[in-house]
Amino acid sequence: MLGLNLSRIVLSVDDMLTLGIETSCDDTGVAVLKDNREVLCELLSSQIKDHSRFGGVIPEFAARKHLENLLPLVNAAMSECNITGKDLDLIAVTRGPGLMGSLIVGVMTARALSQVWNVPLIGVNHLEGHLFAPLIEAQDLEPPFLSLIVSGGHTEIIRVDAFGQYELLGQTRDDAAGEAYDKAARILGLKYPGGPEIDRLAGAGDPHAFDFPIPLKHTNNIEFSFSGLKTALLWQAKKYDGVNVPVNDLCASFQRAVTEALMAKVNLAVRLTGIKRVSASGGVAANSALREALMTAKGFRAWLPEVNRCTDNAVMVAMAGHNAWLRGVRTDEVSADPSLHDLQYKNTEKGA
Ligand code: KG4
Ligand code: ZN
Repeated sequence: MLGLNLSRIVLSVDDMLTLGIETSCDDTGVAVLKDNREVLCELLSSQIKDHSRFGGVIPEFAARKHLENLLPLVNAAMSECNITGKDLDLIAVTRGPGLMGSLIVGVMTARALSQVWNVPLIGVNHLEGHLFAPLIEAQDLEPPFLSLIVSGGHTEIIRVDAFGQYELLGQTRDDAAGEAYDKAARILGLKYPGGPEIDRLAGAGDPHAFDFPIPLKHTNNIEFSFSGLKTALLWQAKKYDGVNVPVNDLCASFQRAVTEALMAKVNLAVRLTGIKRVSASGGVAANSALREALMTAKGFRAWLPEVNRCTDNAVMVAMAGHNAWLRGVRTDEVSADPSLHDLQYKNTEKGA
């Protein structure tokens, strides 16, 4: 369990306290946010060790683990902040997209807490959560900006004209970037999740050892495709027949190809929209090559969350929920929706 210990928290009655809950996949996250940025407490219980022996996330097992972990985490967060449920002003919970069983645990728990404590509840789109992650530290990132979301389930570029006003500019045709990293790692016999492993081994490899194709690099559309790249890696690895496989070089070359594919479309989006502010979030935004490429890019400025807030966490959910609440978003009944895609809260925004 990852925790942030704040020994003295001073609160006033004017502070708005939001409890964030994230259970969309295999991380149980709870956070308490004061107003729009001050993180009073952040707890995360990761199931990576439980799932890595299966080589991926087992949905039923993930849901059971959330059930075991969520309430104890909420209680721990409350006592760490020295508050009770009655002190909260809002509960924000991820309602989708994600794994059905995992989402249900988070949403039903949040609904029960909201009733018992008489605190309003808001359902958050997990992707809007990721979109808010870079804002936790960045005081100066304001719309309009482009948001690259690169995770295990999604790879997309969203145009943010205002918070709550989003346009999907393009997405992957097949695998998400994180999924490609995880599949590539499995091909190379590395453990799950593959992204951090490939990132680590790539550090000792030559990114130009193999010339993998950069998917859709020269098309004039904002779209991604990673399944062919994974197949190219498979054929290259097979040539060694398990003997002296140059794993570090393969990792470094694969990572270069994914990074170049992502950067090509970020640059295209900047050119097409004229927007020169870019944020990136989601697990793959933790990747060292992508971070380096974004931070040193010419033609736009990039904002990234801290590495440990690229992957799923509850602070980003609390941030997105708090912002939506202030915009006037109200949801009558919050329900889990594993295939929730639309980022807009249709007809619920003030004046919509
Ligand atoms: O955002 P996230 O925690 O969960 C989803 O919403 O999907 O992202 C998890 C994904 C995994 O596919 C993992 O392999 C990838 O992010 N990832 C990385 C790195 N750290 C995590 N990929 C590349 N490099 C990393 N350092
Ligand atoms: Zn995520």
